[in-house]
Amino acid sequence: MKLNKYFVIDFDSTFTKVEAFDVLADISLKDHPEKEARKKQIVQITNQGMDGSISFRESLERRLNLLAPSKQHLNPLINELKGSVSESFKRNKEFFRDYADNIYIISNGFKEFIEPIVTEFGIKSENILANEFRFDREGRVVGFDDTNPLSANGGKVEQLKRLNLPGDVYVIGDGYTDYEIKHAGLANKFYAFTENVERESVKTKADHITPSLDEFLYLNKLNTAISYPKNRINVLLLENVHPVALSLLKSEGFNVETYHAAMTEDELIEKVKNVSVLGIRSKTQVTEKVLANANRLMVIGAFCIGTNQIDLDAATRRGVAVFNAPFSNTRSVVELAVAEMIMLIRNIVDKSAKMHRGEWDKSAKGSFEVRGKKLGLIGYGNIGTQLSVIAESLGMKVLYYDTEERLSLGNAVKCRSMKEVLEQADVVSLHVDGRISNTNLIGAKEFAMMKKGVIFINLSRGHVVDIQALRENVLSGKVAGCAIDVFPYEPVSNDEEFKSELRGLPNTILTPHIGGSTLEAQENIGNFVPGKIMEYINTGSTSNSVNFPNLTLPILDNAHRLIHIHDNVPGILAKINQILADHGINIVGQYLKTTELIGYVITDINKEYDKEVIAKLKAIDHTIKFRVLY
Ligand code: NAI
Repeated sequence: MKLNKYFVIDFDSTFTKVEAFDVLADISLKDHPEKEARKKQIVQITNQGMDGSISFRESLERRLNLLAPSKQHLNPLINELKGSVSESFKRNKEFFRDYADNIYIISNGFKEFIEPIVTEFGIKSENILANEFRFDREGRVVGFDDTNPLSANGGKVEQLKRLNLPGDVYVIGDGYTDYEIKHAGLANKFYAFTENVERESVKTKADHITPSLDEFLYLNKLNTAISYPKNRINVLLLENVHPVALSLLKSEGFNVETYHAAMTEDELIEKVKNVSVLGIRSKTQVTEKVLANANRLMVIGAFCIGTNQIDLDAATRRGVAVFNAPFSNTRSVVELAVAEMIMLIRNIVDKSAKMHRGEWDKSAKGSFEVRGKKLGLIGYGNIGTQLSVIAESLGMKVLYYDTEERLSLGNAVKCRSMKEVLEQADVVSLHVDGRISNTNLIGAKEFAMMKKGVIFINLSRGHVVDIQALRENVLSGKVAGCAIDVFPYEPVSNDEEFKSELRGLPNTILTPHIGGSTLEAQENIGNFVPGKIMEYINTGSTSNSVNFPNLTLPILDNAHRLIHIHDNVPGILAKINQILADHGINIVGQYLKTTELIGYVITDINKEYDKEVIAKLKAIDHTIKFRVLY
């Protein structure tokens, strides 16, 4: 593309996330006995070069002496650097290809390792301005071309002078020497690039701070259409979600803010205003009122299993997709259930308590193996099925009842009613969901159906069991042991006393709703939910969304994607297509799915489009939200 503008881009910590010399030190000094000492010295010398106490050339010479690099180190260095290109540069490869004539790389580093990295992006070899090594016969670096201005102080300024570019010049870099080009009057604007490092002294000098290349392209209208830079997408993560989520979202380029606790409705209303992505756990209530104030909200990530804390209908009607982590802690719950049934069937809880009181009660009475026993599962979803597999591998026979049609795994036997399960099982374990109709699913009548001496486990939801009936059945000996992790009322914080009629009962394990609480589960959730959020933002895919029609979409290839969310009324698809036809736009793929409340239409088009089409699509009656990806 012809353009009267030139883009001058720094290499270290801008084009790549790293400083090439740091990487080189790790390679060339790998087995060197003084590696750490030398690396420290190199940092000192770099600083001296920067603060002017020694000349840049001297600093370069001294650093190279300490690094002692040779040709054999170049390939591993280049490989490392190829893997370290800044994320936003990788995302915007088209920019480098389209404006190859106008892009210059300027660096005090060396062409030998810069060239292989940047030419892969289409940057021209002759547009790389950098130092060059001198090698001896054995391939050792013995110096550099000291006639090159970039080996001296003020080198970047001097190089730009010599280039004498015939148009506007924009400099992007993370360092003070990049700003100096503007200071010398050789550039129209200096953009401080902060994706990898932030230097206050550089930021204060900048015309713009660009947290990513997306922002630079957006500011200069170089991103062919109307898509939005990621750093302008605000993400708010509450309730201390796992740090892995923060780093995933940050490395995607989002502007992420975190808060250690839940927020009240009023706090959230204030905070959520310019937020596009909200991440919560189970304590933050996302009410209709919160959603009404969330003018830019696109997606809510629930970093947990349950989504009762979110007004899902209101979210749907406002076009906000909700994702959770439905199976990230499944395994943790299953392991606890297995452990508890073994402990209970051996009467370990009481035996251990007695030991603590000094009582030695050695006997096999009332102690059994789980092998060969019947495990009755009520609810055969994510957890029920996993437990089924593991229980079978312990030699148990599995029976299950689920209101939905579910595939039996292994040798598990499907029962036609809950009664059928309860009458046969030696161990009954509940894994139903928390729908209201499951309140008191297990009460006096159901306990009466069970075998005498049954082991009873509830790690699902508290209201599913009639606690008074459970207490009576434990005291009567009908239930030989029970493990309860969830309660009709649970303390809101660790400071509140736990009150329950189950306290003090024999062979009864009580745990504070920790079935899914393991570090592994937290990390799984931290990985899973951002993945869903990014997929939705980047591709429009809604697979596994709790409230949106589930659409898994092909990767966008050389097309624009129009994403239209609307009230589920007839005729919207026809209107979209009419507008596209009126503008002569060809559809390469189209996907529609609806729920009771909304319709979700994805249209991939292969043509440049103008803003008028977008305005018309947005203006279709009953449109809730509209966005474009490309
Ligand atoms: P899921 O939704 O995959 O499975 C629930 C299954 O129960 C579904 O197959 C459903 O059809 C079935 N079901 C619902 N009502 C039923 C009824 N009355 N009779 C028979 N089947 C019925 O859920 P998942 O992931 O397996 O979780 C199960 C339960 O465990 C949920 O209540 C969940 O909240 C709870 N849970 C508890 C944790 C803890 O820390 N204790 C951690 C994770 C989940």
